[in-house]
Amino acid sequence: MTTVETPITCRAAVLWEIGKPYSIETVEVAAPKKGEVRVKMASVGICHSDLHAQNGMAKKIPFPTILGHEGAGFIESVGEGVERFKTGDLIVFTFISYCRECDWCMSSKTNACRKTPKTGFQMDGTSRISTKGKMITQANSLGLFSEYTVTSEYNVTKVNPSADPNMLCLAGCCLPTGYGAVMNAGKVTPGSTCAIWGLGGVGMCVIMGCRDSGASKIIGVDPNPKKFELAKQFGASDFVNPKEVKSVPETLAQMCKDGVDYCFVSVGNLSAMEEAFNSSHPRWGKTVIIGLHDKGSKIRVGVWELLYGRQILGTMYGSYTAVRDVPYLVEKVLDGKIQLEKLISHRLPLHQINEGFDLMKTGESLRAIIDFDLKA
Ligand SMILES: NC(=O)c1ccc[n+]([C@@H]2O[C@H](COP(=O)([O-])OP(=O)(O)OC[C@H]3O[C@@H](n4cnc5c(N)ncnc54)[C@H](O)[C@@H]3O)[C@@H](O)[C@H]2O)c1
Ligand SMILES: [Zn+2]
Ligand SMILES: [Zn+2]
Repeated sequence: MTTVETPITCRAAVLWEIGKPYSIETVEVAAPKKGEVRVKMASVGICHSDLHAQNGMAKKIPFPTILGHEGAGFIESVGEGVERFKTGDLIVFTFISYCRECDWCMSSKTNACRKTPKTGFQMDGTSRISTKGKMITQANSLGLFSEYTVTSEYNVTKVNPSADPNMLCLAGCCLPTGYGAVMNAGKVTPGSTCAIWGLGGVGMCVIMGCRDSGASKIIGVDPNPKKFELAKQFGASDFVNPKEVKSVPETLAQMCKDGVDYCFVSVGNLSAMEEAFNSSHPRWGKTVIIGLHDKGSKIRVGVWELLYGRQILGTMYGSYTAVRDVPYLVEKVLDGKIQLEKLISHRLPLHQINEGFDLMKTGESLRAIIDFDLKA
């Protein structure tokens, strides 16, 4: 049953064109339709995928748009037929849908859902957010850089209400992405050696996954040495600054006897992806690609470098079925087994969103988040 049927007027950070800064606008968020929920935002993380999108990586997002896909909040109202959620529930958003009935959702081979809408829109091909009568699309059908949003009930998951809503956003992307890359895609075995390219929010969660899998060596590879101290606290044992060595693969081959068992690339850089593959063990090394890049971009791997048993694969959302699995990850956070709060380096109100992105670009932040309780 719909509890509130009227639109809500609130503020959102709108991108009018590729490459332009965000502008804070007054928007109207429509009431949720059948199968949808409207959510009051608590926190939203600034993920590098938003920066890729702002710069035009996913050329298909129709502008103007509202980005933001890593978030948590409270159900404000529900549309017709929604029975899993009620007003006041604490939820985490998921950028892959889970309808629980399509052949992909029923398969254990993928975490994708056939019903995931075209980016920018809800299932019916329209958006719920507008300004002055003009439709604004919702990236990933979410659009979380807004005080309120509407999305499908297939894109939210209820979590333990005792979790802190003002840090829970990180359970919506960087935690499942990084941790799951290790648990579900890499499947790291105890005693293995691991190397991680890119020690941002996602990379730190990869490190926690390697630590919890019992890796014997966890090597952080990043040109920004400011990231090393925190990476050590999460479990990294060694570091390589690619700017300071002649060849990263040769350096890692010396450190890991022939090559690294598991390589993870949590940076959207093609050379880093090739470098990781070439650093993996020449007989059994596995390289997991997490970082994004422009649609159509390619990396080169040698045929003979693959033939003896190296593997390379990609992962989206840490290969988790997020709606089903994120609540379990939140329990690990509550049990103190995953230290999510340490990832948050800056908290900003929505109107300072451009500063949040500047902090990411300069490498100053680890994870900057928008905290919707900060109104100043
Ligand atoms: N596959 C998925 O489901 C998924 C989900 C979330 C994010 N991502 C992607 O993961 C990547 C990381 O996201 P983030 O938010 O943690 O980014 P971030 O900006 O916080 O961190 C990136 C890190 O990479 C480092 N770096 C830059 N160039 C490098 C190089 N050549 N070698 C090694 N390190 C280098 C930077 O210094 C920084 O520490 C992005 O490409 C993002 O789009 C993918
Ligand atoms: Zn993300
Ligand atoms: Zn489905």
